[in-house]
Amino acid sequence: METVRVHAVVEGSGAPLVLLHAFPFCHTLFDDQRPLAANCLLVRPDLRGFGRSPAGASATMEEMAGDVLALLDSLKLDRVVLGGVSMGGYVALALTRLDPSRVSGLVLIDTQALADDDAARAGREVNARRVEAEGTSFLVDPMLGRLLSPECPVEVRAETGRRMRSESPAAVAAALRGMAVREDSRDVLHRFGGRALVVVGEHDVITPRERAQQMADLVPGAELVVVSGAGHLPNVEQPAEVNAALARFMAGAV
Ligand code: MLT
Repeated sequence: METVRVHAVVEGSGAPLVLLHAFPFCHTLFDDQRPLAANCLLVRPDLRGFGRSPAGASATMEEMAGDVLALLDSLKLDRVVLGGVSMGGYVALALTRLDPSRVSGLVLIDTQALADDDAARAGREVNARRVEAEGTSFLVDPMLGRLLSPECPVEVRAETGRRMRSESPAAVAAALRGMAVREDSRDVLHRFGGRALVVVGEHDVITPRERAQQMADLVPGAELVVVSGAGHLPNVEQPAEVNAALARFMAGAV
C-alpha cells in the first residue's frame, strides 16, 4: 500500500494520544483539545489531502490508516490511544484492523462501525463529481446545519464553516469516495482487546446515539459519554466536557 508522509502537530509529553479529524477538516478541528498536551503527548495529523498533508492517488480509510501507521513509526510510537471524530473514527477503526497491536485504547467520537448502504454510496459519488466540477461551497452550508447543534454560538458556526471552506476540493472528493467504500468494522470492535471510550453529541443527526451505543456494546467495559448541547462535533461545541472525558481516559492509559 502506497503511503503518504502526512503532516502532524505534536505537543506535550507522556502517554501518546493521537486524534484523527473529521471530514472535511484538518488537525485544527482539535485546537480546543490542546490543553490535554499538559498531561500527554498529543499528536494531531492532517489526513492525506487535508491541511498541510499531500494527497495520494486515492483516499480510502485503509490508505489513511497506513499513513498514520507510518507516522507512528517515524515518531517511534509503538502503542497509542487512538481517537477519531466521524471520518477520523473510520480511519481509527481501519488502523485497528490493520494492526491492533499499535492501539492500547480507542476513542470513538460521533462515528460508527457500519459501512455505507447503496443509497449513501451513490450520494457520495454525486457529491464527489459536483465538488470536482464546482468546488466545495455547495456542501458547506447544508453540512454546517447537520454538523452543529441548534444552540451552537454563531462565532463557532462561522469558524467551523471557514475551516471547511479552506480544504481542497480534490481532497474532499477523494475522501467522499474513500468513505463510500469503507468496510463494516463491527468485527474489529468485537475482537478489540483494549479499552474504549465512545462519545456522542446528544443532537448528532449524522451518527446518532444508537450508532454510538452499538459500538460501545461491542467492546466489554467500554464507556459511553453523551454530550449535552452538542451535535456531530462535540469536541468543538463542548470542549470542556470532551476534554474531561479524554483526560479521565488518558489517566488510565498505559
Ligand atoms: C464526518 O463528519 O467526518 C462525515 O460527516 C462522516 C460521514 O460523512 O460519514
